[in-house]
Amino acid sequence: MLDGKITLVTGGAGDLGNEMALQLAQAGASVVIWDIKSEADARPRIERVKIAGNPVHYAQVDIRDRSAVEAATDDILSRFGSLDIVCANAGIVDSAPFLEISPEKWQRHIDINLTGSFNVGQVAAQRMVARKIKGRIIFTSSWVADIPWPEITPYTVSKAGVNMLMKQMARELAVYGIRVNAVAPGIVKAGLAGRQLVEEPLYAARVSKVIPLGDPGTPVEIAQAVVYLASPQTSYMTGTVLLIDGGCSLFQFDQ
Ligand SMILES: NC(=O)c1ccc[n+]([C@@H]2O[C@H](COP(=O)([O-])OP(=O)(O)OC[C@H]3O[C@@H](n4cnc5c(N)ncnc54)[C@H](O)[C@@H]3O)[C@@H](O)[C@H]2O)c1
Repeated sequence: MLDGKITLVTGGAGDLGNEMALQLAQAGASVVIWDIKSEADARPRIERVKIAGNPVHYAQVDIRDRSAVEAATDDILSRFGSLDIVCANAGIVDSAPFLEISPEKWQRHIDINLTGSFNVGQVAAQRMVARKIKGRIIFTSSWVADIPWPEITPYTVSKAGVNMLMKQMARELAVYGIRVNAVAPGIVKAGLAGRQLVEEPLYAARVSKVIPLGDPGTPVEIAQAVVYLASPQTSYMTGTVLLIDGGCSLFQFDQ
């Protein structure tokens, strides 16, 4: 389905991004993984994606660093000759009650989750337009981009920004044949929420009440939606936030 497509996944050494990279490779794509982790630390995750048999390239890139993003994007183009699908997925969460959020914590979320997504998305789009590539850009948002979940204000605000960034890009890049969409995972038992479920008892207690379908999601369920948005099956979709949240955003109140 994605044979010959050159694909970038940021945060691809993390739980959701690594599953996205694997499923994109299984669909036939060549995959470039960026992450802030060293190549040595990311090695098991790189090897996992290689099992699909297609070329896999890793680069240690901090998406906050604009010149690093530009250089690494140009490196993809010189190595592979194209850049067709971009998954701007890297992100962080660090909980704190609203009254205790430090300016540094606020800024770190904006820098990584929002400005990092802008860096990756804009640089990729500039290269796609210059080379007349009708690419696809997929952001990882979150179901809480629209929902004020307790104690993660910098995160929810950054993801609300990602949704509008995606819509602006979809609006302005449609004329070039570039499709821009977002996946909005719910609570996944892996990655950021997986760690919160273990480390934050109050978070786990809240989660136990809010998922209409019962259980947290899996990276596989999120990555399937990413492959769908990357595929020709969604040729008429742009500017969409695709929710994969087990119904969380439907609000399950106590019975
Ligand atoms: N896990 C969930 O329940 C959940 C729910 C909704 C949305 N999301 C989103 O999914 C995405 C992936 O998160 P995850 O849950 O797999 O967490 P994760 O921590 O497993 O993966 C995130 C990856 O991003 C990388 N990263 C962090 N800062 C970076 C930077 N400055 N430059 C490059 N890479 C950086 C990390 O090293 C890590 O490998 C995030 O955008 C997150 O907000 C996750």
